[in-house]
Amino acid sequence: MSYSMTELIQTKREGGHLEPVELEWIIESYTADVLPDYQLSALLMAIMFRGMSQVELAAWTDAMLHSGDVLDLSSIDMPKIDKHSTGGVGDKISIPLAPLVVACGVAIPMMSGRGLGHTGGTLDKLETIPGFRTRLDPDEFARQLGELGLVLAGQSETLVPADRRIYALRDASGTVPSVPLISSSIMSKKLAEDLDGLVLDVKIGSGAFMKDVASGRELAETMVGIGKSHNTPVVGILTDMDQPLGTEVGNANEIIESIAILKGDGPDDTTELTLRLGEEMLILGGVAADRTEARSQLDSVISSGAALDVFAKVIEAQGGDPRVLDDQSILPSAEHVFTVTAGRSGFVERCDALAVGRSAVRLGAGRQAKEDDVDPGVGISIRARVGDEVAAGDALATVSYNTDDQLAACLPILETAWILSDEPQAPRPLILGEVR
Ligand code: URA
Repeated sequence: MSYSMTELIQTKREGGHLEPVELEWIIESYTADVLPDYQLSALLMAIMFRGMSQVELAAWTDAMLHSGDVLDLSSIDMPKIDKHSTGGVGDKISIPLAPLVVACGVAIPMMSGRGLGHTGGTLDKLETIPGFRTRLDPDEFARQLGELGLVLAGQSETLVPADRRIYALRDASGTVPSVPLISSSIMSKKLAEDLDGLVLDVKIGSGAFMKDVASGRELAETMVGIGKSHNTPVVGILTDMDQPLGTEVGNANEIIESIAILKGDGPDDTTELTLRLGEEMLILGGVAADRTEARSQLDSVISSGAALDVFAKVIEAQGGDPRVLDDQSILPSAEHVFTVTAGRSGFVERCDALAVGRSAVRLGAGRQAKEDDVDPGVGISIRARVGDEVAAGDALATVSYNTDDQLAACLPILETAWILSDEPQAPRPLILGEVR
């Protein structure tokens, strides 16, 4: 069956509904190079303005999900639960979270991405561990998941090829920030992992796609709704991304913080978020009855060292050097350190995640275009967070850098991140809501 793409674009442009078969045809034809970019771009723009009904969204997501291979993990006899974050600054949570949850008896076929724009990427961080490989072929992926319950890999090329192409087109056509397009993009990739459940960390604030709680909730509800249409339980936790998460921003820096969390020595906010998301994963996986039981399981695999042991085995299996867990001097580092100081005394009213993220990209910790390389050793350590009191001259952040050009590019933006006030400021709440 073939359709007139021009008519389908017009229908959506006028606010009409497209039939599931029409949406399937669009995804199939675009993935097969039959539809040109300009027609799909026009449709994406119409979707941005007109949205999609729940029926349309389920069909669109399903067509994307079946545009390539779908994993069959039925041979794994543990519950398979994944976590996805909508992305932020200093968001290294997947790295400590995955071994913790696996140590409690849940399997995680985790497929992560690289940093793009002001947000960092889990793969870039993991690859700072000497030797660590994030490209695994499907057989190795399934074997390791069966043996260790955890794989920390990049997205397979054969999974959801439609999303790779549509995402690139969205990037070029100004159609990234659309709730149905973001939701279908994320959920098609997660549902292709053959999961028993998914926990979403939906970020809200200046460093996130969603700037306020209402739009974050809408995104979470949309993704939870797609999960329901596909009979996969999904829980969305809404969390703050108005200031960076934890103390470290940058690739090797974030591995150091992740290891600290696994040892029970991490900053309060990253530790709390790791445990909160872990609780939901254990409940979805059926290995804990409630949050209290889940928290005590997670606490015990930290104190027994079992979670660290899972991480060591995964690092080794993926070619990395597990000595990193005891000796972080084997990670890439930067040659110089510069301290950003407070120009006056006061209380930190704002530490803007977007400004810190953008300055980290300029420093070389992130990439602006997919083909850019990152400098694995550079980073920003946050020394003053919202609510902290500082005196003039106190450190707000330290910047680890290799070249003067990196520092000169980073500082003008980084220095705008902090706003100091005369009045005491309450710390920002980390958890802003949940959607089930
Ligand atoms: N992450 C994705 O995978 N897709 C989007 O559209 C946005 C964030």
